[in-house]
Amino acid sequence: MQLIFSNDTDKLYRYVADRLLETVALKPDALLGLATGGTFEPVYGRILEQRSRVNWQLARTVNLDEYYPIGRHGEQSFYTYMKKRLFDPLGLTEEQSLVLNGEAADPGQECMDFEERIDALGGIELQVLGIGRNGHIGFNEPSDAFEPHTHYTALTDTTLTDNARYFEGVDQMPTGALTMGIETIMKARGILLLAVGRSKAQAVNALVNGKITPDLPASILRVHPNCTVLMDSEAGALLDWSLGQQL
Ligand code: GLP
Repeated sequence: MQLIFSNDTDKLYRYVADRLLETVALKPDALLGLATGGTFEPVYGRILEQRSRVNWQLARTVNLDEYYPIGRHGEQSFYTYMKKRLFDPLGLTEEQSLVLNGEAADPGQECMDFEERIDALGGIELQVLGIGRNGHIGFNEPSDAFEPHTHYTALTDTTLTDNARYFEGVDQMPTGALTMGIETIMKARGILLLAVGRSKAQAVNALVNGKITPDLPASILRVHPNCTVLMDSEAGALLDWSLGQQL
């Protein structure tokens, strides 16, 4: 696992955006694995600024997760987040941009179909990830065992508290989600995890220095052959910067 540190958060946003842009430039029909959350808003902003560098006509994207249950077109769904910030401005159609359906009548079937679609699209070329304060990736919450495949999960109290800011309040939030599983994520040919802010420092420290354990789902990334963790000075505050490179 490669580590990249920077005192300049904008450089990290640009780095991640540029890697996604380069992936499409090199392989126009590459399947990009995308994430949501506050961390990725500036990344998508940078992609829009640079959008003319690549041809998006063949590009395909898949998102990590979606709340469940949630209205697909409602204001807080991850589908709406992506549509507003990336899909509509880039002109990506529904066929090009796969997002789990938070109002699927049969969530189990939805998860199985999702896995099949990813495989049929040739697998994920580059997956970007944020990290939860509790070490979750996608919505793979701390638990006793890694869940390999896309599945329904109940959200933990930490995640409900952290994400309540996007809703009218914690009691207005869905209590569950559909998420790519750990194997689904680990099958991506390249992974970039971006961590920004002091609240992520402990999770990032455990990811780099702790045990590989389902209690900190991101720790599995240590065994991925092509994974880079990028941190700003706050998220990387507990780490020895000489272990990585500085941007
Ligand atoms: C969200 C998503 C994750 C994201 C994380 C951190 O709920 N499920 O994919 O990485 O929590 O979000 P933020 O970037 O807002 O801190």
